[in-house]
Amino acid sequence: MHCLTWHLIGHGPMRLWAAAVSCHPYRWDFLLGTAGVIPGFKSAVRGAVRSILARVNLKLSRLDAPFENTRCYIPFKPTIAAAAAAGMTVGDYIEAHYDTPGVARETLARMRDLGVFAEPVRVVCEIGPGSGRYLAETLRMCSPERYEIYETAARWAHWLVQKYGVVLRPTNGSTLAHTPSGSVDLAHAHKTFPALSFLSTCRYLAEMARVVRVGGKVVFDVVTEDCMDARTLRDWLATGSGYGEYPNVMPRSEIEDLFARLKLRCEGEFLESMKPGVTHYFVTVKYASQD
Ligand SMILES: C[S@@+](CC[C@H](N)C(=O)[O-])C[C@H]1O[C@@H](n2cnc3c(N)ncnc32)[C@H](O)[C@@H]1O
Repeated sequence: MHCLTWHLIGHGPMRLWAAAVSCHPYRWDFLLGTAGVIPGFKSAVRGAVRSILARVNLKLSRLDAPFENTRCYIPFKPTIAAAAAAGMTVGDYIEAHYDTPGVARETLARMRDLGVFAEPVRVVCEIGPGSGRYLAETLRMCSPERYEIYETAARWAHWLVQKYGVVLRPTNGSTLAHTPSGSVDLAHAHKTFPALSFLSTCRYLAEMARVVRVGGKVVFDVVTEDCMDARTLRDWLATGSGYGEYPNVMPRSEIEDLFARLKLRCEGEFLESMKPGVTHYFVTVKYASQD
């Protein structure tokens, strides 16, 4: 679906609102009407415009709305309610229903065994924490002064801010623009890149390598060819699930090329459950400055 953005022009009751269709490579602006003159006028026009656009597969959204890929994560309210009804933590509930019980704890233990927490970890940056199940396990391993998150699912992100006191950074979907270079001890992502395109993953990896200090760790997982044999592919197809790019396959050779360019050295790798298959973890250290 293409995205139709809208924004206000001017101030006060005589504001005009305009719309711009951004369906690459074309873009054009046109005036839709006055806002604020007659109460309810703007929302009535917006509603009518929404329904007309839906028929031609266009969606109306605010120009300054944060990037949000809601299809890439489970719904907030029902999940919180179901976990409470089951008397489980949200993380345990999610693992019981969508993944393998204990998998986040096991992953963090493997990270620890590969030296990720051997030195003090003062600043952490996580991409796509979702429910925060890996975040919670990370906080069992270290006590950072600042834990930044980049998360596109707004309800989950705000909930994590309240629950864990993490810092939510404006998330545009592929950069860590609000994190200074060399400021982070651990940049990590869990089961997020398998849901992103090849290019978004490459952009995020370059950003993770930029924000960590020399000696800092970059940990992530992608679905490499090692994770997708014929039987596993059959199992994925049989689930009937899969949304957006998930589970996107990333060639191992590309990962190795990226490590060389980004000055990351692989300290260890392992496969971890991601039902109905597995995902490939890489634990790396930044061995030199990128300047
Ligand atoms: C498959 S979920 C994994 C969530 C969590 N890490 C876990 O394993 O439970 C992918 C997560 O990445 C988030 N996400 C999707 N696209 C993103 C993007 N471009 N940038 C940052 N987060 C994104 C989703 O909202 C979701 O929280």
